[in-house]
Amino acid sequence: MSDHKVYPVSAEWAASAWADEAKYNEMYAESVNNPDKFWGEQARATIDWIKPFHQVKNTSFEPGNVSIKWFEDGTLNVAANCLDRHLATRGDQTAIIWEGDDPSSDEHISYRDLYERVGKFANALKAQGVKKGDVATLYMPMIPEAAVAMLACARIGAVHSIVFGGFSPDALGVRVEESGSSIIITSDEGRRGGRRVPLKKNVDAAIAGMDNPASVKSVVVVKCTGGDVAWDTDRDHWYHELVAGQSVDCPAEEMGAEDPLFILYTSGSTGKPKGLEHTTGGYIVYAAMTHKYVFDYKDGDVYWCTADVGWVTGHSYIVYGPLANGGTTVMFEGVPTYPDASRFGRVIEKHKVNQFYTAPTAIRALMQKGDDVLGDSDLSSLKLLGSVGEPINPEAWNWYNDIMGKGECPVVDTWWQTETGGIMIVPLPGATAAKPGSASRPFFGVQPALVDNEGNLIEGSGDGNLVILDGWPAIARSCWGDPARYEETYFSTFKGMYFTGDGARRDDDGYYWITGRVDDVINVSGHRMGTAEVESSLVAHAAVAEAAVVGYPHAIKGQGIYVYVTLQAGVEATDELRKALVGHVRTDIGPIASPDLIQWAPGLPKTRSGKIMRRILRKIAANEHDQLGDTSTLADPAVVDDLVANRMNR
Ligand code: PRX
Repeated sequence: MSDHKVYPVSAEWAASAWADEAKYNEMYAESVNNPDKFWGEQARATIDWIKPFHQVKNTSFEPGNVSIKWFEDGTLNVAANCLDRHLATRGDQTAIIWEGDDPSSDEHISYRDLYERVGKFANALKAQGVKKGDVATLYMPMIPEAAVAMLACARIGAVHSIVFGGFSPDALGVRVEESGSSIIITSDEGRRGGRRVPLKKNVDAAIAGMDNPASVKSVVVVKCTGGDVAWDTDRDHWYHELVAGQSVDCPAEEMGAEDPLFILYTSGSTGKPKGLEHTTGGYIVYAAMTHKYVFDYKDGDVYWCTADVGWVTGHSYIVYGPLANGGTTVMFEGVPTYPDASRFGRVIEKHKVNQFYTAPTAIRALMQKGDDVLGDSDLSSLKLLGSVGEPINPEAWNWYNDIMGKGECPVVDTWWQTETGGIMIVPLPGATAAKPGSASRPFFGVQPALVDNEGNLIEGSGDGNLVILDGWPAIARSCWGDPARYEETYFSTFKGMYFTGDGARRDDDGYYWITGRVDDVINVSGHRMGTAEVESSLVAHAAVAEAAVVGYPHAIKGQGIYVYVTLQAGVEATDELRKALVGHVRTDIGPIASPDLIQWAPGLPKTRSGKIMRRILRKIAANEHDQLGDTSTLADPAVVDDLVANRMNR
């Protein structure tokens, strides 16, 4: 598709960026031809090690023998890399600019201040009995204490498992149980768009709903809004009381490079969320390096990623990458549309943001409100714009480039996943000409490839399943407590390759264009959702006999959730029931899983062996029922006519 508009790298960017095209080509070639030398040098230059490593890469994607180790005989501490080593040179520099939901509240936290807060809370965690290797669940709003808690865990070698604050008590409870976590760190309430989110109440409900509520020994509560909360005096502790009187000195635990740093649950094509395990050395090397090169981060820059720490983007590109690089990172508690849709512009102006990183869904939501949506905000501090989470359609790309970037900021479309730990495919700002809608070229060490459904490599330009042929330092090491599932999910579809679950096209210039998931995962507003999770929630409702969930194109969210429901015999299909089902899923999983459209389906299209043909359901939901393809294998082809006739209008 070389007919697409191409935005060349400007001479100024090529001259000033960390990597221009020649440097990218040279570094990329070395990273794949001589990974031990390349990553050894990068890891020594980027990160401070306690004991140096001698072994760099030790990875195998072979079925039955999947094993991934990086820098395995080295030791380090991630919190010390994000804090201690910066104190001498930048102790007074702002590490975190916190911008509250309420536009009049903000806070600048210096590296020294952050170091002290982390030290105190790390000691408080130890006093609660938290030890190296223990799992701590964080269920927090976007307040500085979330970053403090992450770094405090890293400091003492505890493994954090952050559950997004928008998840329901049930979803939280399952993740606490699965991770074997005996401590939960939360706040009384969170603030979002002028509303309050009852986090502590949700934690109480989550614990009450667990098989073994007594397994949660302690709940640490940050006083955030001062709202009323229920209190269990044996179990609950105020954060401010725990840290009062604690020393700021807490020795950083010496961690093996392959010791776990965090777990993060994400949705897959089967019902249960998977806890991806990320380890210490490879992760932090890759997070820091990608943050530096992709955003061209330079000393003194103010960098803002609008994600939530509940997602991997918040881990790697609000906290770990920027702080490892001694950067200034903005942490935003609110939403783009509160108090009004000019908020992003106001915050960029207020904090003189240089690099801005957000999701296409936010861009589309603003775009819809018109070109003057950011008001009279001064956006002249912006140097670079980033996009993540879903394919960015060229219209949104152009708007981002023209209206926010004034045509002067490189737009970096970053493709990656919870599993990959860091950015994998991206046009580096000084090196790679951008094509709107294409994530373009691999980062150092990343070897993407396309395969057909039989696993044959596709050469040259073409369409296929996106796989990665060899290991990179930040790839997840396992599914927590279930290594067999890890191997089965990612390395068994195409033997010897990491399967991303995404489809992609490669053009004549070797650019990758991500076309979306090829499995039963949908991407709603950049949030990943397993259709099976929503289905199992629906069938748990007494009125529902059967449910099938698919994604459909949605103008703002990218994909919306389209549900086909077969009711139990005798249940009446009413609008009230529709609302009740939406409410049921919201309570069960969280608002992000709310169905957008529910169609009553007297029957679902199934093969003679009883398998639901989702391909057909996707086509009907997308209003492409003229492209249903072969329906002759259906047990009852007449079902399809009914579904087409009663398709829900958007
Ligand atoms: O389908 C791809 C899409 O988001 C999926 C990963 O979701 P998650 O693990 O939640 O991580 C999101 C943030 C890294 C991918 O399999 N995706 C992510 N970024 C892009 C994207 N699709 C197209 N273009 C992107 N830039």
